[in-house]
Amino acid sequence: MSRFQVSNEIFKDESVLFEDWVPEDLPERKRELDAIENALNPVLRSGVAPHNTFIYGKTGQGKTASIEYLLYEFTTAVEESDEVNVGVDVINYSCAQDTSSYTVVCNLVNKITGHNPNGHPKKKVFEELYSTIEEMDDIVIFVLDEIDTIGADDEILYELPRARANGYLEDTWASVIGISNDFDFQGKLSPKTKDTLCEEEIHFKPYSAPQLRSILQRRVEKAFHEDALSENVIPLAAALAAQDKGSARQAIRYLYKAGELASSDGSQLVTEQHVRDAEELIERQAIQKGIRDLTTQDTLTLVAVLSLEVDGDVPARTRAVYSEYTDICNVVDADSIAMRRVRDHLQDLAMIGIIDEHEHDSGVRGGTHYRWGLATDLGTTIEVLEQSPNRIKDITPIINQ
Ligand SMILES: Nc1ncnc2c1ncn2[C@@H]1O[C@H](COP(=O)(O)OP(=O)(O)OP(=O)(O)O)[C@@H](O)[C@H]1O
Ligand SMILES: [Mg+2]
Repeated sequence: MSRFQVSNEIFKDESVLFEDWVPEDLPERKRELDAIENALNPVLRSGVAPHNTFIYGKTGQGKTASIEYLLYEFTTAVEESDEVNVGVDVINYSCAQDTSSYTVVCNLVNKITGHNPNGHPKKKVFEELYSTIEEMDDIVIFVLDEIDTIGADDEILYELPRARANGYLEDTWASVIGISNDFDFQGKLSPKTKDTLCEEEIHFKPYSAPQLRSILQRRVEKAFHEDALSENVIPLAAALAAQDKGSARQAIRYLYKAGELASSDGSQLVTEQHVRDAEELIERQAIQKGIRDLTTQDTLTLVAVLSLEVDGDVPARTRAVYSEYTDICNVVDADSIAMRRVRDHLQDLAMIGIIDEHEHDSGVRGGTHYRWGLATDLGTTIEVLEQSPNRIKDITPIINQ
């Protein structure tokens, strides 16, 4: 008998639960969609460039989905408009793999023309981008997703929206819609970039449990067979995701994984237990993925945070983490590094989502400083760390000291 005796009493159309499935409507984002629409309206009103717009919010908040949904409606409206007669080109580009404005410009030219100017001087590649844009429609909208990866090297975000004012473009307008999930990114932008890019600023706040419930409800109707879910499955998946990051992506993942667990059990019904198991599994996989590539110093820093977490001394200042860290280095007989470098390791751990970075305002004289705490589940993190081939064994006795 084949291993693949799969009966499918759970899913009606599983692809609806895939990451790239674009929802037909996002009623929970009405306010944000109205704001983006407002930024685009100069095109439909007068045939001129839309406002440069900066969209930000944590991961899984529907930023990319909203833009995709809205731009489809927008380009259709422009084509059908009797009011204005302009051509609009939309260039959708994710900067996730780029670390500088230079590579973004090269990749944009490559995306549009099929030729990559990489290697040429910066001035030249910008010129290539401008001459490429001049060949395009009247208005070119660049949707630059995940722009935070370019960090402080933000020239593109200033130059592109200013290209016409600075005389680099004559016949076309270029506008930028920048999307970021790094809350602090805006603060890192140079003042002139901020001024130019952030004509409109749109913040996507984390979804609440009721909002996640309605998002899941709409998916379920398409993805699952009728009566495949027991009553509390949607509220539970929504509540678990809301307690954590308020991410729709996470809520959908819980539901999908719960469906898969039910299906492989041979069950006809997805139960609350499937959702709880799904959450644990996904959390564990995320921690495993984060921990896989940690260096010894990353691991020692993380163990220091775990130890403070066990004692309830979190969120902790860098100095407190450092003090714990040096104690641990002594216990395991590892070389310790300077506090400044431990702070870098803390930031790296925050980037991969294992710890949280809380900005703390210590009043007029103290300025701001950071405090650190664990972002993942304590028990699971210790378990995963102990099972991973890191160089520190027996973490439990160390952190319980
Ligand atoms: N209001 C909503 N209605 C239906 N589906 C939604 C809604 N918001 C988000 N989603 C879905 O949740 C998932 C994550 O959304 P999306 O990719 O747009 O998040 P994001 O804010 O761009 O996150 P990131 O910053 O990680 O890129 C997608 O599958 C998307 O379709
Ligand atoms: Mg996105």
